[in-house]
Amino acid sequence: MSIKQISENVYSIGVLNPTLRIFDVIMKTDYGTSYNAYLIKNNGKSALVETVHAKFFDEYLENIKSILGDTPPDYLIMNHNEPDHSGSVAKLTEIYPDIIIIESKAGAIYIKNIANKELNIKTVSDNEIFDFGGGELKFIVAPFLHWPDSMFTYFAKDKILFTCDFLGAHFCEPTAFDYNIKKEDYEAEYNGAFVYYYNAIFGPFKPYVLSGLDKIKDIDFETACPSHGPVLTKKDGGNLDCAIKAYAEMSAPHKNEATYIPIFYCTAYGNTGILAENIKTGIKEIIPGADVNIINLNMADSASAQLHLSDAFLIGSPTINRDAVAPVWELINTIDAVSMRDRPCAVFGSYGWSGEGCSNLIARLKGLKLKVSENPLRCQFVPSQDDLDAAIEYGREFAKSL
Ligand code: FEO
Repeated sequence: MSIKQISENVYSIGVLNPTLRIFDVIMKTDYGTSYNAYLIKNNGKSALVETVHAKFFDEYLENIKSILGDTPPDYLIMNHNEPDHSGSVAKLTEIYPDIIIIESKAGAIYIKNIANKELNIKTVSDNEIFDFGGGELKFIVAPFLHWPDSMFTYFAKDKILFTCDFLGAHFCEPTAFDYNIKKEDYEAEYNGAFVYYYNAIFGPFKPYVLSGLDKIKDIDFETACPSHGPVLTKKDGGNLDCAIKAYAEMSAPHKNEATYIPIFYCTAYGNTGILAENIKTGIKEIIPGADVNIINLNMADSASAQLHLSDAFLIGSPTINRDAVAPVWELINTIDAVSMRDRPCAVFGSYGWSGEGCSNLIARLKGLKLKVSENPLRCQFVPSQDDLDAAIEYGREFAKSL
């Protein structure tokens, strides 16, 4: 990335990775990403904010040197230590051995285990103010946004808040500024990437997002410098206010009007599906007002969203070759183990020979720390009348347990 001047004293010195299509193993990056990093200069002092992915260290160093020449930077502020931001710390400290690394308390522990070398670290506390060339840097600890180490840094002189992953997006914007996105008419693509990124990274931490927003609500900043995607501004076409509003809306607590209990299932010959219908009957006997939604995973395209909206859920699978079937596992793979912890659930299914599908599902759901019933509802081949009665009773008992 060529260097961009963000304000009188702040420069963007990060790098673009436009061809990246998968980030952190799990996230799609249709528009690539950027590893943003910044340099603050003030009255002869200089501070780097974040480094970049280790693969891009040479370009990052070139950017630093093109501004500072042979003068070493005084500080490196690490708002967060995931390796896409900390991956170059070890190399950077080879070049600048005297640099002081500013970290939250958790960050100081993480960076030692990432760089695996002695580092010159200064830890800071929440709301600590640090004299920086006669100006001020303020550190705002923001735990779980999205790691325990996360913090924001405020540079009052230029009214800039450095937010690391918070308010970011995996989106390459070569001009660095958000207002060019509107001008160039690819706002829809950026907005989609912004929401996808929020859901993937901050979706599990919504209460922390609200508390982070509360912490910065009285801070007078006109620019947010995240560590991915464009710098957010209040200029014409800028997205800063919209981004903050969107985070608040997307993080607002959700409450279902009626108890929502989806019953997900796959069925090869209809047997597991019949169990689902009868479980529903039992649930409705106990909680008549419950919204019980039977969802065939082979025909649904929003099952994961329904799973996350649920107050409780059941999941049914036949057993094929000693296991539950792939669409069921695919749904379970979307479980957000942080926000869904202790969600009540149960499993059921028809089987032919030995029927390990249910026990495998229970083990997985237990591993994710959901509140899963230890007793599945199983039946061999076609449900008999006794099996159907047992399914109704199973639904009753599940409803009573809520
Ligand atoms: Fe962009 Fe959590 O690192």
